Amino acid sequence: MSGNCNPIGIFDSGAGGLTVLSELVKVMPNEKYIYFADSANCPYGSKPAEEIINLTDKITRFLTTKGCKVIVVACNTATAAAIDYLRNSYSIPFIGMEPAVKPASQNTKTKSIGVLATAGTFKGRLYIETSRKYAADVNVCYQVGEGLVELVESGKADSPEAEQLLHKYIDPMVDCNIDHLVLGCTHYPFLKPVLERMLPNHVTIVDPAPAVALQTKRVAENSGLLCNQNLVDSTSIDFYSSSNTEVLKILVEMNIRPQYRIEDLYFNNVKL
Ligand code: DGL
Repeated sequence: MSGNCNPIGIFDSGAGGLTVLSELVKVMPNEKYIYFADSANCPYGSKPAEEIINLTDKITRFLTTKGCKVIVVACNTATAAAIDYLRNSYSIPFIGMEPAVKPASQNTKTKSIGVLATAGTFKGRLYIETSRKYAADVNVCYQVGEGLVELVESGKADSPEAEQLLHKYIDPMVDCNIDHLVLGCTHYPFLKPVLERMLPNHVTIVDPAPAVALQTKRVAENSGLLCNQNLVDSTSIDFYSSSNTEVLKILVEMNIRPQYRIEDLYFNNVKL
């Protein structure tokens, strides 16, 4: 036994961060996790940065009180608004998320990529700087995914409503001859079944979650914060939600549960 076996914290405005958690548990199966869904304040997408900083500060305080050794900000919008503040305010490592414009720009053959994200993410320094640096010679068709987070949060990710809204957002990108679609919001991978049905075969969907999970492992390893205990029985996930946990539970059942015993998954309500 060595390293640090405290939990890894992960949060999002709601259930979107589960798409990152499902990758984290694959690359670090021996860790304990605490997942916080700020469902009471979801969506974050069009909230002012100051409000998001305030909410993420409260979540971080909660997670650090629970002993979290590393925090994954599994939300592009929260990263855009608050990652600098969080890194300056707390001593533990933070891993953030941004739309994967760099790999998409490097791999595009048509020189045209699509980016779907929230208004807050597009306004962030990270997105603007990365686009300037890596996508200067690429046609970027970007679109705010207004209403998509709400559909996922209400259990309608694969529904006629989702299909209709996605057609409105994606069809113009297909007309722009994109060959990569960057999912710049952690809720959007839940829309993949619909997206895969509507996108032409040559369009690659880019989800940064696997890369973020690997980056988290690297950061934890380099900081001596990985848990080397090989006792599978000791792994568990605590889920906290600032509102009801109904849809969260359904999405956990579909995406996380196959790797866990039901008694190792705990659901709690907490007021932020
Ligand atoms: N999952 C968040 C993100 O990655 C959703 C933002 C929202 O709540 O609008 O941006």
